[in-house]
Amino acid sequence: MAALTLRPLRAADEAEALRAHDELAADGFELLLGWEPGLSWADYLVAVERTEQGVGLAPGRVPASFRVGVVDDRIVGRASIRHRLTPYLLEVGGHIGYGVRPADRRQGHATAMLRLSLDLVRDLGVDRALVTCDDDNVGSIRTIERCGGELEDTRSDAGVLKRRYWVPTG
Ligand SMILES: CC(C)(COP(=O)(O)OP(=O)(O)OC[C@H]1O[C@@H](n2cnc3c(N)ncnc32)[C@H](O)[C@@H]1OP(=O)(O)O)[C@@H](O)C(=O)NCCC(=O)NCCS
Repeated sequence: MAALTLRPLRAADEAEALRAHDELAADGFELLLGWEPGLSWADYLVAVERTEQGVGLAPGRVPASFRVGVVDDRIVGRASIRHRLTPYLLEVGGHIGYGVRPADRRQGHATAMLRLSLDLVRDLGVDRALVTCDDDNVGSIRTIERCGGELEDTRSDAGVLKRRYWVPTG
């Protein structure tokens, strides 16, 4: 199996990315952040790029990079990398969010995507990234701890307990 790479979405990804989006929706996880049926793929890609550049952000939003994890030309998951923390992100959202397609789990892809996302956030000048997950999400807990995450505390997000980890980016 080839190594995982993280890259931006492309025009040619439409069909596969939408399939992956539907698969993860069954887990309550949003692969394509902000995607709405009826939007054209071209317009969606423009919106994703504008979010990364910080153009036309909604109030309280910060620039964020969207990347797909790709192995052997297959999209296996995605990472979203917030460039800085807002009060909400500092409380429970964190810098980096990720998800892996059900059929591609338990092969180290989340760990590889988090490692590469940490490189990206380091290049933005962040020394330690906040990464959070549900208190009962064993896969995500192990992913974060494998990347060197140190638990600061657990906080409630509308009644859901979230673990807050600081992960060195260097
Ligand atoms: C959580 C999630 C990202 C893990 O992805 P993954 O690619 O399977 O994770 P990895 O293969 O990199 O596994 C990392 C570690 O977690 C362990 N792990 C993964 N899923 C697990 C599970 N369901 N139960 C127990 N351990 C699990 C792996 O064994 C590995 O640990 P190890 O190296 O000590 O053996 C994936 O299950 C997912 O996308 N879930 C839905 C969305 C989600 O929860 N996203 C995270 C939001 S914070």
